[in-house]
Amino acid sequence: MRNVLITGGAGFIGSNFVRHLLRADPEIRLVTLDALTYAGSLENLNDLPDPVRHTFVKGDICDQALVEELLRIHRIDTLVHFAAETHVDRSIWGPTPFIQTNVIGTFTLLEAVNHLWLGKGRTFDGPARFHHVSTDEVYGALSPSDPPVSETAPYAPSSPYAASKAASDHLVRAYARTYGLPVTITNCSNNYGPYQFPEKLIPLTILNALEGKPVPVYGDGQQVRDWLYVEDHCRAIYRVLQAGRLGETYHVGGSNQPTNLEVVREICSILDERRPGRKHADLIQMVGDRPGHDRRYAMDTRRIENELGWQPQHDLLAGLRETTDWYLNHPAWVEALRKGSDYQAWLERNYAHRWEEL
Ligand code: NAD
Ligand code: DAU
Repeated sequence: MRNVLITGGAGFIGSNFVRHLLRADPEIRLVTLDALTYAGSLENLNDLPDPVRHTFVKGDICDQALVEELLRIHRIDTLVHFAAETHVDRSIWGPTPFIQTNVIGTFTLLEAVNHLWLGKGRTFDGPARFHHVSTDEVYGALSPSDPPVSETAPYAPSSPYAASKAASDHLVRAYARTYGLPVTITNCSNNYGPYQFPEKLIPLTILNALEGKPVPVYGDGQQVRDWLYVEDHCRAIYRVLQAGRLGETYHVGGSNQPTNLEVVREICSILDERRPGRKHADLIQMVGDRPGHDRRYAMDTRRIENELGWQPQHDLLAGLRETTDWYLNHPAWVEALRKGSDYQAWLERNYAHRWEEL
């Protein structure tokens, strides 16, 4: 692994991974390919360690000619694929970009690497790797008594987002099986931490509560997610790149099971300490539910723990404190992201009707 192409490297997990890899390996050179949608920002790549080893290219993963040119010019031997439309609620309002980026985009990348690593247009014949970053949502909802899902569980996606990620996983496996493409896949649970766009539950809660705005909790708030600190996810991907078996899938998760309401209440109590004078939990409002809302996710992570020696290092309470402090200490980042996107319009669209459903 010398020259790595990172798709979606200006987003939340991608930008954390760029930083992680630059620190972990002093020899490595990185190229980020990112379309800078509403969810991506160069602000996320401002403070890179050793930035001369990183090149940013604005572009779409659906542009095969561009992807092939980058593979060729930079002699890419490893592609780590983060780029995606990622917000479940947006996929319910408008699935088209999810099919375009998550399905067609992944297909385009597979075609490009197949052509340049294995096919007639071959320009590179060393060991190569296509690593696909996917999600626990492909397995659908678990009931409270179900065991955590293993890597062999059947797919049952609920939302257009989850279905588009499931389709991309199937394509990656098909290219490995049919053409012998050297791939690995990680399916990960909910990430949280620095640089997450404030449409997702944890940063939305922090910022709304901080600003004295209502904190919306969907349905009865008893849904369960398996929260993972983003740095632990980055370490897991790096371990899989170093020692994962080709063609294999690895589950990554935080091994915790709080309800959404418990997570939101915990953030409010952290804010009570950091910004005394208000009882932030008074801002919590139960609002109309997400259609098709998955009740619970839980990942069986024994494969990555036993084979690769990976384990999460952040517990949820410490991680929530660090994350809350990061948002409190980065108001300029928050403002830049909100201004450079459709943030206000999105809040209107996603929440106006929910308050009315009260
Ligand atoms: P994000 O929404 O923060 O960032 C996505 C990035 O992809 C953005 O920078 C965006 O500009 C870029 N992008 C979107 N469409 C593109 C296109 N057509 N061409 C090039 N770039 C494009 O996402 P994230 O939360 O960092 O998630 C990254 C990956 O991890 C996704 O594949 C997601 O499915 C997966 N994942 C996320 C989580 C989570 O909790 N966030 C959990 C499991 C898996
Ligand atoms: O599980 C992995 C997935 O986690 C990733 O694949 C997705 O890309 C990522 O967005 C995330 O999906 P979720 O839908 O679980 O994340 P979100 O932060 O949107 O919601 C977390 C939970 O909180 C979910 O049960 C819905 C609920 N929620 C969310 C929002 C935005 C609320 O109750 N209120 C809200 O305002």
